Amino acid sequence: MSQRTFSIIKPDAVRKGYTAAILAAIEKAGFQIASIKKQSISKAQAEGFYAVHSARPFFDSLTTFMSSGPIVLMVLEKENAIADLRKLMGATNPANAEEGTIRKQFAGSIEENAIHGSDAPETAAFEIGYWFAGYELV
Ligand code: CMP
Repeated sequence: MSQRTFSIIKPDAVRKGYTAAILAAIEKAGFQIASIKKQSISKAQAEGFYAVHSARPFFDSLTTFMSSGPIVLMVLEKENAIADLRKLMGATNPANAEEGTIRKQFAGSIEENAIHGSDAPETAAFEIGYWFAGYELV
């Protein structure tokens, strides 16, 4: 059964001109782009999105980074989308990411790691609803 996940091309990758290459990798892996938009977000919006990480030492730096420039927000669809996207992204820390993954190719550090993908069905539902209105997902 088809599943939806939520993804962000982060400001580091957008700044470096990797948007098209990352989208190509996503489509080549069989994902349909159900919705996509490019925008800059505020620090407060980033804090709300990453609220589960609010107690982490990197929270302030992460939310400053995520609001530092335009990002690409996407809802992606395919069978097993959540797990398959995380596999395509590679490990959070690009130093540990497998060859051929998006983070291995395009990420610079554990924080500036090029792409985000939801880690579970509940987080995907929260994250899609946080950034996309129902009318954007028809
Ligand atoms: P993401 O998948 O978007 O989820 C939380 C983000 O926090 C993660 O990607 C990284 O960008 C960032 N992150 C996770 N661990 C660390 C860390 N140890 N130091 C700095 N940033 C981190």
